[in-house]
Amino acid sequence: MRDEHTQRWQQRYRESPPDRMPWHREQPAEALVEAVRRGLLPKGVTVDLGCGTGTDLLYLAHQGYDAVGVDIAAEPLHFARARIRQAGLHIPLIQADARFLPFRDGSIDLICDSGCFHSFAPEIRPMYARSVARVLKPGGILFMREFHHDQPQPPEGGPYRLKLEEFSEVFVPLFRFLSVGEVYYPDMPPDRRRLHIIRLQRK
Ligand SMILES: C[S@@+](CC[C@H](N)C(=O)[O-])C[C@H]1O[C@@H](n2cnc3c(N)ncnc32)[C@H](O)[C@@H]1O
Repeated sequence: MRDEHTQRWQQRYRESPPDRMPWHREQPAEALVEAVRRGLLPKGVTVDLGCGTGTDLLYLAHQGYDAVGVDIAAEPLHFARARIRQAGLHIPLIQADARFLPFRDGSIDLICDSGCFHSFAPEIRPMYARSVARVLKPGGILFMREFHHDQPQPPEGGPYRLKLEEFSEVFVPLFRFLSVGEVYYPDMPPDRRRLHIIRLQRK
């Protein structure tokens, strides 16, 4: 689907190499590491949704998750593929849109989303919620790490700084909220310091 959302991402990745993007990390997100350590994320078929350059994806695979990376853009997937090869791992990568996930109904145990959902404009968020709900098993988990509203919103739109109500609006009918937390990075630019950490369970 070549809509504005897709075009914006494809354009974004033409601006600089994937590992120069502001979200690229060499280390997995602490919140993900912590959730894995505490046994909060079921091991099984796992999708890193909007996997970018694959840092969290590689971490999940190393931790024994049966991981698959999905991203709408080709460039970060090329980059992730090289890292996976270098690590001697086999991790499938699929170029696909979160709104139209190419998985069977109820086939996924865990979806991790770090910074993908917060790029969705309000009118297309319900499509994302329906798509992830469709592919998750009943009881499956959606683990999200998304920008918090308590910081400046760039004037040009996304990525959106989200209120909790904006998650509830789209997820409540299909998911239970298991936990809601946040992380704060004092050394990041003022508009990227605070993130929601939300764990949802498919009803
Ligand atoms: C902010 S980046 C985060 C990348 C990675 N998760 C990380 O934490 O480094 C968001 C990623 O989501 C991808 N993305 C955006 N919209 C998407 C969609 N509709 N379907 C799949 N991936 C999408 C982008 O291409 C981008 O790689």
